[in-house]
Amino acid sequence: MNIRKVTLSAVLLSTLWAPLSSEAQNPSIVVKTAQPVSEIQPTMWGVFFEDINLGADGGLYAELVKNRSFEFFKPLMGWKIQQKKFKEGTVTVQNRQEKNVSNPRFLSVKAENTVRGDLGITNEGFRGMGIKNGLRYDFSVMYRQTSGSVKLHVELINAKGENIGGTTLIPQKNGNTWEKQAVSFTANATESKGKLNIWFEGNGEIDLDIISLFPEDTWKKRPGGMRADMVQMLADMKPGFIRFPGGCIVEGFDLSQRYQWKKTLGALEDRQLIINRWNFEFSHRPAPDYFQSFGLGFFEYFQLAEDIGAEALPILNCGMACQFNSAEIAPLDQLEPYVQDALDLIEFANGDVSTTWGKVRAGMGHPAPFRLKFLGVGNENWGPQYLERVKIFTKAIKAKYPEIKLVNSSGTDPNGERFDYLNNELRSMKADIIDEHYYRQADWFLQNAARYDSYDRNGSKVFAGEYAAQSDKTVSVDNKNNWKCAIAEAAFMTGLERNAQVVNMASYAPLFAHVDGWQWTPDMIWVDNLRIYGTPNYYVQKLYSLNKGTHVLSMTQNNQALTGQDGLFASASLDKNTNEVILKFVNTSKQDISREINLEGVKKTEKTGKVWTMQSNDPEVVNSLNNPVQLSPKESAIALSGKNKFALTVAPGSFTVLRIKTL
Ligand code: AHR
Repeated sequence: MNIRKVTLSAVLLSTLWAPLSSEAQNPSIVVKTAQPVSEIQPTMWGVFFEDINLGADGGLYAELVKNRSFEFFKPLMGWKIQQKKFKEGTVTVQNRQEKNVSNPRFLSVKAENTVRGDLGITNEGFRGMGIKNGLRYDFSVMYRQTSGSVKLHVELINAKGENIGGTTLIPQKNGNTWEKQAVSFTANATESKGKLNIWFEGNGEIDLDIISLFPEDTWKKRPGGMRADMVQMLADMKPGFIRFPGGCIVEGFDLSQRYQWKKTLGALEDRQLIINRWNFEFSHRPAPDYFQSFGLGFFEYFQLAEDIGAEALPILNCGMACQFNSAEIAPLDQLEPYVQDALDLIEFANGDVSTTWGKVRAGMGHPAPFRLKFLGVGNENWGPQYLERVKIFTKAIKAKYPEIKLVNSSGTDPNGERFDYLNNELRSMKADIIDEHYYRQADWFLQNAARYDSYDRNGSKVFAGEYAAQSDKTVSVDNKNNWKCAIAEAAFMTGLERNAQVVNMASYAPLFAHVDGWQWTPDMIWVDNLRIYGTPNYYVQKLYSLNKGTHVLSMTQNNQALTGQDGLFASASLDKNTNEVILKFVNTSKQDISREINLEGVKKTEKTGKVWTMQSNDPEVVNSLNNPVQLSPKESAIALSGKNKFALTVAPGSFTVLRIKTL
């Protein structure tokens, strides 16, 4: 293979689709349409979700109140007590301790003939609250009015402190039992840095917990649901799978902070909050207010997968904490609860409602099974300790659920001693699917477009589970989601598609980032409290996912796959459902590239083909909140002869997808 190292440089000539000047000057590209090389799995292009960069709390999970249950390490973090005239002991944090281990703390308020404005609490939201004019907001609280009568005036304020909507909640019950009550109101202004005030009026004592505010316009209008614009961006991609809940948060800094799916089910007050390991991971990007409330838990992830037509791919802790952090491991004779968690998860997802965990799922509103097919054992774990644990998990899971495909880790890097050791061992164990991660510079992606050409066709399958081209270097805060990186990923992905016989799943990572609360960059989709945009990398992923096809076709130039010759990368697939040939071309050079395309085996095509192009002469170009689709696919049409040959010119710095209907 002639793999060329190509970097884009500043100003490139723009170009249009144009006929070939002469066939002799330009080699032909032959696409063999009659003998597909292999199937493309429906799972081929998916998404990787992790609660990093305010991905869940403060992001996808639409809760607007931060630290709603006072369980952060600093119980009043995110809250401010408002008192016109200070009096000691008016607002206190109390702790039920062993009476409620999941949610021990609550707030106790004493009102002594207070009127609105005398005494209150303010929540700052997750870097503010995004509020929309005319939208309904649903406020709820758990309370215990132990004496007297105290009203709650609920109000949203803008960045200037002005009221932008609110209502009054009059507790309906008195006594020592906890009650839940809700009120709704409509906001009268749009604000991206809103806050929530609760003013107390009356005389008496009231305890408060799980103070919550949700917008009405969640995904599918589910109460307490997800931010609809964020889910929509995923749904628009029609991803083949969604991997959750990470990433490193699966492992935890130590085992006490690992992700435990059973603690993410049921009533919100029973979901025990833990610190998010991204809270303190990077000293240069601290996020001291980053915790996992688990309002978005495993039931909601399964439901999300179902909503967007993606296979669920949960990844579970394998008895090993993050090896970059504590590297704590559960001794083998204490691994049983971890393995049981995996078995129970399969029952939770797929079990009949008469099973223990199937009943829990049904109790949450989903009697039908979620039809889980894949399960990940460990995230980025490595070494002999990992293999020991994988063997135990595999034996137990396959004995009970032989149909479940297991995903195993090949560590943190796509090469080197750790990778080679795990890859060889897992292959000799006949692992179903091996998860490879590559956070590398753009050139690596160009140079590795042929990475899978030599992989064993009959061995373990590959999950390209986390990848993203880095414009600077891994974990650098200077990494940008620019075109240089996105086009390199597009080039590399031709190699994933060409090798779909080996690569069954792939996902860019990380998925989401909040512009005011990120720890890791680059990321595929960025948000603020009200807005969202997809990066050029998002649009590359989306084009692949929407133009997957059902079968890989051989596509060659001079009998070689197109892996960067003259800066051209290409792959071809067939959609047997629509009888379309789908061609992808990535031109990383500074020149037009013109080729004759020969769809060998095709008799006739329609006279026009559909085309989507992403093109820029500027490798540094990025999208932004203010310019969200600066670099995004442009749809057009290509005139065809109707026979099986046509001329094509692809512009410098471009990614082009063609769909041609065969007749
Ligand atoms: O995607 C960010 C992190 O990168 C993931 O949590 C981890 O798996 C990888 O190291």
